Amino acid sequence: MEFEKKEFLTSFAASENYPDYHYPEIAVLGRSNVGKSSMINALCNTQKLVKTSGQPGKTRLINYFLINKMFCLVDLPGYGYAKVSKIEKEKWKDRIEGYLMKSKNLICVFHLIDIRHEPTKDDVLMHEWLVYFRIPYVVIATKSDKISKNQCHQQKIKIAEQLKLPIISSIIEFSTIKKVGIRTIQNMLDEILSKEETTS
Ligand code: GTP
Ligand code: MG
Repeated sequence: MEFEKKEFLTSFAASENYPDYHYPEIAVLGRSNVGKSSMINALCNTQKLVKTSGQPGKTRLINYFLINKMFCLVDLPGYGYAKVSKIEKEKWKDRIEGYLMKSKNLICVFHLIDIRHEPTKDDVLMHEWLVYFRIPYVVIATKSDKISKNQCHQQKIKIAEQLKLPIISSIIEFSTIKKVGIRTIQNMLDEILSKEETTS
């Protein structure tokens, strides 16, 4: 699926009464600075839809983007950003988990992990949380342009081990710089959304 029409819908902070647009939602989850907003821009073939930054903590609200008037991509704040107060960290965590628990339209989570590093403690906890609550997810390993092909393979083995994923090939490599993974994710979205149509 090409993302022909994309529009910003809303930003949302509160942890009650999440907006209900009646469109299926795909949420983009990951630690601060992992590349969530950049991935949404890359999928939409623009630099401008979502603000990105080298400074972690750029996305503090939950942002909804409507794609092709068919589904929403939901850009979540990053977790695990060290440089904010404990209270602020808790607020972000509540926002993320509150959204994941309460959204009426969530059909899948894209869980982004930086391919250069082993998953952080927060990455593992968040993954276990998704599994526990049976929220469908896809693991996407970001910034693959930063290391060699062989290193990417080794890192994917480590990520699969840590997250207890049965197969390495279920991890999608992604790079906004080298435009790796964009087509795979677009095709996957076609599949997820067509399944949704037949079941709803
Ligand atoms: P928060 O909103 O703070 O949670 O961060 P985020 O996960 O939305 O990350 P964002 O997209 O803002 O990207 C963080 C930094 O990583 C920016 O400097 C991006 O340019 C860079 N970045 C994102 N994706 C890639 C990638 O595939 N390759 C490389 N080399 N850099 C990337
Ligand atoms: Mg962001």
